[in-house]
Amino acid sequence: MRVAVLAGGRSSEHDISLASAAAVRGGLADGGHEPVSVEITREGRWRCDGAAVTLQPGGGLLDADVVFPVLHGPFGEDGTVQGLLELLDVPYVGAGVLASAVAMDKVVFKELMGRAGVPQVDYVALREDDDPASIERLGLPVFVKPARLGSSVGISKVETQGDLPEALGDAFGHDPLVIVEAMAEGLEVECSVLGNHDPVASEPGEIVVNTGGWYDYEAKYEPGGMDLVVPARVPPGTRARVQELALEAFRIVDGAGLARVDFFVGDEVLVNELNTIPGFTETSVYAKLFEASGIPYVELLDRLLALALERHETERGYRF
Ligand SMILES: Nc1ncnc2c1ncn2[C@@H]1O[C@H](COP(=O)(O)OP(=O)(O)O)[C@@H](O)[C@H]1O
Ligand SMILES: [Mg+2]
Repeated sequence: MRVAVLAGGRSSEHDISLASAAAVRGGLADGGHEPVSVEITREGRWRCDGAAVTLQPGGGLLDADVVFPVLHGPFGEDGTVQGLLELLDVPYVGAGVLASAVAMDKVVFKELMGRAGVPQVDYVALREDDDPASIERLGLPVFVKPARLGSSVGISKVETQGDLPEALGDAFGHDPLVIVEAMAEGLEVECSVLGNHDPVASEPGEIVVNTGGWYDYEAKYEPGGMDLVVPARVPPGTRARVQELALEAFRIVDGAGLARVDFFVGDEVLVNELNTIPGFTETSVYAKLFEASGIPYVELLDRLLALALERHETERGYRF
């Protein structure tokens, strides 16, 4: 298949996307496909082979059979690019518009999980004019986060009341909506999901942070900053619970193709977040968890292409 791989983009995760996309192109070529590299600049311009890409609604993208958006964060993982691909009428890998937008917004995501009774940390959503007094019930420490970012950008762990204003100021610099969360104790465990209507969950893996703190940007991307332990060192019942909740979260947001669902595992298994376009190099958590579950990288890519075609065909089969 001819696969347009979207790389880069406007978010602060531009470089991470470039690394993921390069690995995806390599894996696609290894699988006998024809990758076409589309680079999206930090300003949001789309380029292919050095030339500007022109788009025609209903006109597909560069004659690709499938588009693989390997973009993280705003303007890529949040439903915006997915909406554009819908208008181009081209099959694409991963979640659709709504699931992408819902999973990107930590507040909306938590509201939906809460309604379904999915266990998670207590939290407070704040807009800039809101009275932060409501945070008090969470105790300390708390995690202060922009609602719609990723890679730990703009997130602070706040240990004392006096550090709260700076953390809120920092988060509001990224997003008019901020979420403040009670701190979860225990392990961080992640589980990859693959599929459309009948998704499968991978072996869960455990994140071990080597930087002495929480899983911040440095721990995520500095060499040696983290280790992934697969399988996660949890009892069989906990492993099953993680997989069950990963699939449940995927269904609640109406996920498609892929997602990585992240957990805190203490006395109870708590869902933290669902990423619709997780890091996607061969050594990224998403791929490593499936490799440990018997699906190697090239096959994973193959399956994602097939799922994208299946979803596009199914959706276009409805009258609208
Ligand atoms: N409520 C919490 N309790 C404990 N640790 C947290 C909490 N929220 C975030 N963290 C730490 O911060 C990291 C990043 O938070 P997360 O919500 O996953 O943001 P991102 O979308 O940027 O990955 C987590 O992996 C974890 O190490
Ligand atoms: Mg995270």
